[in-house]
Amino acid sequence: MWNGKKDLLSMDQLSREEIEAILHYAGRLESLSGKGSKLGICKGEILITAFFEPSTRTRISFETAMHTLGGDVQNFSESGSSMEKGETKEDTIRTLEQYCDTLVIRDGEPGSVARYASMVNIPVINGGDGVNEHPTQALYDMYTMWKSFGRLTNLKIAIIGGLKYYRPSNSLVTGLGKFEGNSIIGICPKGLELSDKFRNSSYSEMPIDMAKLNETLEKIKPDVVYVTRLKKEYMPSGEDPGKYFYKIDASTMRILPGHCIVLHPLPRTSEMSTEIDPDPRVVMFKQVRHSLQVRMAVLALFSGHEDGLKQI
Ligand code: NCD
Repeated sequence: MWNGKKDLLSMDQLSREEIEAILHYAGRLESLSGKGSKLGICKGEILITAFFEPSTRTRISFETAMHTLGGDVQNFSESGSSMEKGETKEDTIRTLEQYCDTLVIRDGEPGSVARYASMVNIPVINGGDGVNEHPTQALYDMYTMWKSFGRLTNLKIAIIGGLKYYRPSNSLVTGLGKFEGNSIIGICPKGLELSDKFRNSSYSEMPIDMAKLNETLEKIKPDVVYVTRLKKEYMPSGEDPGKYFYKIDASTMRILPGHCIVLHPLPRTSEMSTEIDPDPRVVMFKQVRHSLQVRMAVLALFSGHEDGLKQI
């Protein structure tokens, strides 16, 4: 229980103060712990990660975070489990509950992780539920902005891509909308606009012909460019993803302000050229590194160890 909350399911459930607390504790953990140092905050506890969709960063960083907090980790894999005999996800989750203290779950169905959380008595963290949300991704995206600018207010953030199918941007728009003075501009191909559910008063949108991406960014002069992947796997079969093509490359970097940072939740595919990686404004692997401290803070808080965090 953290501030009366058992689970972390969406950014909407967190107040601005709670987001600031998570980022504050992440900052303490970063300055103190380094990559492998062991803290005893979650000693004796077991985390199970249950991912019904592919993952690299989310699963591994949650598992590394729990190890670094002194706890233990088990990873559930659908392949080789009794789900191959026809067992439901619901019965699987209720079984896993018997073996651990905290669950991180990813599932392709929007709203499913909240449903699983309502069936169990232990904390459940949403590691991504279909086209709905990915709250801990947004938290470390915001942490990266906070580290770069020293604030999460009065920023101009351009979010680029197929927003309709991208859960990190849903969570990010919600999170940034809780801080005053932000201008969040969604730049997307026509037809892939942000879902109405996630719009707020800080958000405006420019559905464009993506061939005009550079000239659009030149006019906006953003502080942050947040590039997203086209989630082809969520698009209706028969729809040609090629018609939505967009790309950030060296020509884009030339028109962005000197202070502008470029983020990407990764994985990247064709939407971001590797030629821009040496540019110090491109900070996506720092962003990846931040997932560790932020997920450590989330695990410690939601498993009831704020006191342990206060002592570091
Ligand atoms: C994202 C996801 O799964 O929503 N990945 C991640 O956790 N960093 C983005 C994606 O799938 O492209």
